[in-house]
Amino acid sequence: MSGFSAEWLALRAPADTAARDAGLLRAAADLAPARVMDLGCGTGAMLATLQPLLPRPAAWVLVDGDVGLLDQAAQRAAALGVVATPQACDLLATPLPAAAADLVTATALFDLVSADWLDRFLDALSARRLPLYAALSYDGGMAWRPPHPLDGAVTAAFNRHQRGPKGFGGPALGPEAPAALVAGLEARGYRVTVADSPWQVGADQPAFTAALLDGIAAAVAEQGSMPTIADWLAARRAATHHTEVGHRDLLAVPL
Ligand SMILES: C[S@@+](CC[C@H](N)C(=O)[O-])C[C@H]1O[C@@H](n2cnc3c(N)ncnc32)[C@H](O)[C@@H]1O
Repeated sequence: MSGFSAEWLALRAPADTAARDAGLLRAAADLAPARVMDLGCGTGAMLATLQPLLPRPAAWVLVDGDVGLLDQAAQRAAALGVVATPQACDLLATPLPAAAADLVTATALFDLVSADWLDRFLDALSARRLPLYAALSYDGGMAWRPPHPLDGAVTAAFNRHQRGPKGFGGPALGPEAPAALVAGLEARGYRVTVADSPWQVGADQPAFTAALLDGIAAAVAEQGSMPTIADWLAARRAATHHTEVGHRDLLAVPL
């Protein structure tokens, strides 16, 4: 399983919150689920975001393979006065846990999964006719202002890294995740609505900017195909800039 630190999840949380498409978030809340299952819940960002918009408190099942993150999610739910059942589970083996639910949610999960896993997950989801709200799947687009001559090569190498295995039984979908989700859901008789939800990362988020740059450069360096990555990183660290990272949100309802 890929490791995600609580520190990284906390750094990205403000950008995630600002990026989520408000219309799809509202439409997910309007489904008024009594029970929500959040897959790959991390420290509970989805619960903290969606629960306040629900017409009444839902019972949450929080699913993650990292028990440390799951513990933090459970504490967060308790602090918010929300009934939540933490479930430690490797989603590779169990794409959709059997817990009762009226809505399945996930944030920043589907770009990690393989095409094969997605098929197994969507088969299980559609067999139960459950709606899905999937936020913040990376779509492969990155843009910086002002531009740097190496930006295109960095994005291409980073996207190759995103397609490497992330613990879901094969190469990750990476930037193809949003399109694969739409195609798989529509083929199973879902009405799917999609919206762009890009991160906008500026000078007011220095810690997140630094972590994002380091993460991109490390992923590119792992590819071994771009010796100039250190130059790009040094240039980006030295000067103020704005980064846009493309994501998509999706709400799918069985017809
Ligand atoms: C990018 S993080 C997103 C966390 C959270 N949804 C958020 O938005 O802050 C992906 C999450 O998926 C979990 N995860 C990754 N692979 C998993 C697996 N095979 N089984 C269960 N959880 C997994 C990680 O532990 C992590 O919490």
